[in-house]
Amino acid sequence: RDIGLLGIPLEAGGAVAGTLMGPAALRTAGLAARLTGLGHRVHDHGDVTPAAVADRDLPAELAARCRSAGTVAGFVRAAHERALSILEAGRMPVFMGGDHSISMGTVSAVARHCAATGRDLVLLWLDAHADFNTPATSPSGNIHGMPVAMLCGDESLRPLLGEHRFPPLAPENVHLFGLRSIDQEERRAIALNGLDGIDMRLVDEFGVSVLLRRILADLDPARTHLHVSLDVDFLDPEVAPGAGTPVPGGATYREAHLVMEMLHDSGLVGSLDIVELNPFLDERGRSAVVLAELTASLFGRSVLDRPAGQRGIA
Ligand code: ARG
Ligand code: MN
Ligand code: MN
Ligand code: MN
Repeated sequence: RDIGLLGIPLEAGGAVAGTLMGPAALRTAGLAARLTGLGHRVHDHGDVTPAAVADRDLPAELAARCRSAGTVAGFVRAAHERALSILEAGRMPVFMGGDHSISMGTVSAVARHCAATGRDLVLLWLDAHADFNTPATSPSGNIHGMPVAMLCGDESLRPLLGEHRFPPLAPENVHLFGLRSIDQEERRAIALNGLDGIDMRLVDEFGVSVLLRRILADLDPARTHLHVSLDVDFLDPEVAPGAGTPVPGGATYREAHLVMEMLHDSGLVGSLDIVELNPFLDERGRSAVVLAELTASLFGRSVLDRPAGQRGIA
């Protein structure tokens, strides 16, 4: 495949500085070489240059309730524009964050591209958190806890994207996978809106393969564009310590690879975010390397050759 890497060095959406080094750490971990080694063509589009947006350019309510709203808006708008042009060039984008608010820019661009090309966008959110807060419900004011709400059409967050318009995601096409930390009002909103939530209790009870297969089996390969948004805190902090909001009890190394391998075999994935990597908190690049290895699994790395017939047992 023709892959386009794009760095989005944003840290203002979270409380802990350091995710702005995420794209650099993923490059140092050899992300591009791992993908070219699998036979893909890789173009590194560099890092986005944020648009100039000040807090006073945004609705007063939004700027008052959200930390660094102007800075986040500047990155979100620039990411959206760059993402759209990579998609229009026919490349499969890999977005390197940056905190998770970058997805407001990337996924909204994917949604526009899907609408233009007649495909259904399905979102797989691999994360300890639901990121479904709004300015009204957020206990922290950190925008990285809000992208899913924005992508589902929350009006109060829409000004972050400026003049750009995108079709909001249908809640039934949003799958939150790996959940183990949700705020009280956020939890109510998830139920009210009908998002599909897979928490770690389900993962323990049924395993990732049954749960993921159930999601993938419902998707029409001819129509579906699956966007995968991988938050480093989907992984257990023992596996990936470079996370600003770590939560114990996360996915193991093997569970995460299995998810990526199954996603590869599905042939449905059209775009990827790798977010929340904080190299300042990492241990000698371990988390960056794990994320680069997981990305390789998503793009077809496997231990043995797997003939087509051997892919799905059920
Ligand atoms: N739910 C918390 C909040 O809204 C934490 C969000 C963490 N999000 C993330 N992308 N790491 O502040
Ligand atoms: Mn396309
Ligand atoms: Mn997240
Ligand atoms: Mn998270």
